[in-house]
Amino acid sequence: MPKKVVLAYSGGLDTSVAIRWLAEKYDAEVVTLTIDLGGQKDLEEVRARALKTGAVKAYVVDGKEMFVQDFVFPAFQAGAVYQGQYPLATALGRPLIAKLLVEMARKEDAQYVAHGCTGKGNDQVRFDVSVGALAPELKVIAPAREWGMSREEEEEYARRHHIPLVIKKGLYSTDENLWGRSIEAGPLEDPWREPPEEAFDWTRAIADTPDQPLYLEVAFEQGLPIALDGEEMDGVALINRLNALAGEHGVGRIDHIEDRLVGIKSREVYEAPAATVLLKAHQALEAMTLSRDQLRFKAKVSEEYAELIYNGLWFGALRRDLAAYVGSTQQHVTGSIRVRLHKGNCTVVGRRASQSLYRYDLATYGAQDAFDQKASPGFIHIWGLQTRIQAQQQPEEPPDA
Ligand code: ARG
Repeated sequence: MPKKVVLAYSGGLDTSVAIRWLAEKYDAEVVTLTIDLGGQKDLEEVRARALKTGAVKAYVVDGKEMFVQDFVFPAFQAGAVYQGQYPLATALGRPLIAKLLVEMARKEDAQYVAHGCTGKGNDQVRFDVSVGALAPELKVIAPAREWGMSREEEEEYARRHHIPLVIKKGLYSTDENLWGRSIEAGPLEDPWREPPEEAFDWTRAIADTPDQPLYLEVAFEQGLPIALDGEEMDGVALINRLNALAGEHGVGRIDHIEDRLVGIKSREVYEAPAATVLLKAHQALEAMTLSRDQLRFKAKVSEEYAELIYNGLWFGALRRDLAAYVGSTQQHVTGSIRVRLHKGNCTVVGRRASQSLYRYDLATYGAQDAFDQKASPGFIHIWGLQTRIQAQQQPEEPPDA
């Protein structure tokens, strides 16, 4: 019986070359698995290409719903953003792809799973750790980490083996799913250089955005978005719609220097229109519905959550622990946020929540003021007690006194 490998197949150069290379090097039958996470490719065409290249079987699976419900939304409620900039689109897709690879490997009785990641990035870590957690019996092969071919050599290999390729004169390395589009390499490797306009695909240049702002109302229920301008829709539809609307106004471009897990600093560019709007709106709603203490503590949890997603630890116990905490915080995060999208900016301009902690009668300086100002001196007297005593007992001396 020949050995069998299930390869996560995107249809690009690396994974196309990998089909042929795996068959030769590992003397294995290659089954490809292409997962639709909401990128914009024609996946039937990708499937056909896998078969033409030598795959014995080629599967295409729609993972959009599972991606949004089980990966994007929990991370979203957590407010997970890596290094304060990156909403983690690619990082969230990997554990899901790993999970489906494992399921397919079991169904197909395969001994191996494979992916197209190089040995320099985060994605190899996310795949390998996830597969290791879900199916320790499977061996993971990463051809691009083993074969030592340059891009030119890969192209030469493809020509020699008549591997059909869509030659998108690829300056950039990109990855996309519903939560965002990641763009790396090529001209972006010079951190001084402004990203060329051609790097972007989902967002308009500011010069081409409408002059009129777009006002939009985002409704949330228990921390999840459920409607845009009063129209209820499921998560996939809502994110798709918002990517289009906010992208048209140039919202959601991100350009930063990112610390990869393997120690490399890398210039990363993203387009994440829906994520940008939703994260901002969600934060504004939490400001209305969570206490000061909850907000402070949740900010720390958000950071930990983002780190573990970035670092490939989705299937670890810490994520489940943090998810339980985050879930508990979202109970009253229900209400609506009004945003204005204009010339690349998303600005929160209004907020409303049924169980809001904002109290007009306490905040107002007008006639309806219900706050007891006479109680403040007593509060301040005790609040400042330690500071006063310390100032008296341990006065700050001039250095040479
Ligand atoms: N730096 C991002 C991350 O680690 C994006 C990686 C994108 N991958 C790619 N093939 N362009 O999640």
